[in-house]
Amino acid sequence: MNKAQRDMIFSQATKWIYEAGEQIRKQIHNPLTIDTKSNANDLVTEMDRSTEAFLANNIKSTFTDHFILSEEGYGDQLDSMNGIVWIIDPIDGTMNFVHQKRNFAISIGIFNNGIGEIGLIYNVMEDVLYSAKRGEGAYKNNKKLPQLHHDILFQEAIVSMNHFWLCENRLVDEKWMQKLVKDVRGSRTYGSAALEFAFVAEGIIDSYLTLSLSPWDYAAGMVIINEVGGVTTTIDGDPLDMLSKTSVASGNPCIQEKIIANYIKKARK
Ligand code: IPD
Ligand code: CA
Ligand code: CA
Repeated sequence: MNKAQRDMIFSQATKWIYEAGEQIRKQIHNPLTIDTKSNANDLVTEMDRSTEAFLANNIKSTFTDHFILSEEGYGDQLDSMNGIVWIIDPIDGTMNFVHQKRNFAISIGIFNNGIGEIGLIYNVMEDVLYSAKRGEGAYKNNKKLPQLHHDILFQEAIVSMNHFWLCENRLVDEKWMQKLVKDVRGSRTYGSAALEFAFVAEGIIDSYLTLSLSPWDYAAGMVIINEVGGVTTTIDGDPLDMLSKTSVASGNPCIQEKIIANYIKKARK
């Protein structure tokens, strides 16, 4: 993808993400239709569906040869990352959307033949857009984000992770993860993977760890984090597969390396 094409797609995607956000803000206090998916706490609302439909319809009518990989069923069934693929989470942090009416984001990652070209994460209620184009840096609204510092002390790091790590689970021995939480300065859980990636890119948290995410949760975040010198891998340090669910470790390389080597590798079952 050349720069002109990337710029053109970026400006369309940005326009649509703002429009979608505006619609959500307008309807934020309307009564919600809430359904559940894989379990009683896996929520989906009419707003998740209508936001995805809005984005998918615009993409399909404007870019007839592009593909869509998305959460709520308006995308394509893909078995490869060939071509231009929009990876969309219409509302990331649906539980926050339902319970808090804030702290959720629209997330769009745009890939060309498997290479992340554009990342957009829109914190809807705060009207803050995190964005990146490959090779051109990352932005929070119009402000360029600085490169991540490589001299952060481990004991001063803030790590974002949810409680699944700390309870008995089949992937890691939770004792090592409890030690990690004690060894760093602090731990956080925000309830929106997309925002957690954005916060890593912004340098306000130093690592985000999760046992299982789908491509639409991490696609945009990966692109944005790359642009500030951060890294995104599985919890074993391997590259992410953009077509399936995976564990994710993302963050400042100097912290990420230590977390994987000194905690996760030891904790891994
Ligand atoms: C979820 C959120 C949450 C993460 C879950 C995701 P959703 O996305 O990002 O923070 O822990 O794994 O599924 O369902 O709100 O789009
Ligand atoms: Ca999500
Ligand atoms: Ca979602």
